[in-house]
Amino acid sequence: MTPQERVRLVDLVAGRVSKKRLAHTLRVETLAVRLARFWGVSQEKASVASLLHDIARDEPQSSLLELVKDTDDPLTREMAETSAPLVLHAPVGALIARRDFDVRDPEILRAIALHTTGAPHMDSLAMIVFLADYCESGRRFAGVGEVRSLLFSNLEAAMLRALSQTVAYLRQHSRAMDRHTVDATAAFARLAREDSQPLHSA
Ligand SMILES: [Fe+2]
Ligand SMILES: [Fe+2]
Repeated sequence: MTPQERVRLVDLVAGRVSKKRLAHTLRVETLAVRLARFWGVSQEKASVASLLHDIARDEPQSSLLELVKDTDDPLTREMAETSAPLVLHAPVGALIARRDFDVRDPEILRAIALHTTGAPHMDSLAMIVFLADYCESGRRFAGVGEVRSLLFSNLEAAMLRALSQTVAYLRQHSRAMDRHTVDATAAFARLAREDSQPLHSA
């Protein structure tokens, strides 16, 4: 993507989301590109996925559900049954990225689709976009510092921290939780336990 192509993409996104959302989106991109550079992931993919991650966020719930109904994408169909409808903007964002922005790269589409809930199997790009969304410089909630402190040492540990905090927050406020968030938290917790086990235990 040339700098001009990026500017064009930013303009197109600006036409579809609120000013506030655009500012958030650009902060997510800044952090995601930094993380991509650090972790040896494509900075271009991090940029495109970040710029498009909330493309459906300002769509009304009814039109999200409408788009979901017509899709043959398995992940989106699965997420359509969610108990937390807010998370739908993520898989629908991936649909819009493909339909209106001609994004064909499966890693970018998956990173967009999973940016709200996470999932048990995430590649580095998906973790980077999820964590950049969670930690961008405008975020100021309890616990964000702990996740930030892990970003450049262990992506999986940062994911576990962010997911655990999300689950705790949703429980505390009796808010609906999507199954993917629960499954992702369990998977990253398992991974952390395996990592802490000695290689040759007696
Ligand atoms: Fe989002
Ligand atoms: Fe976001």
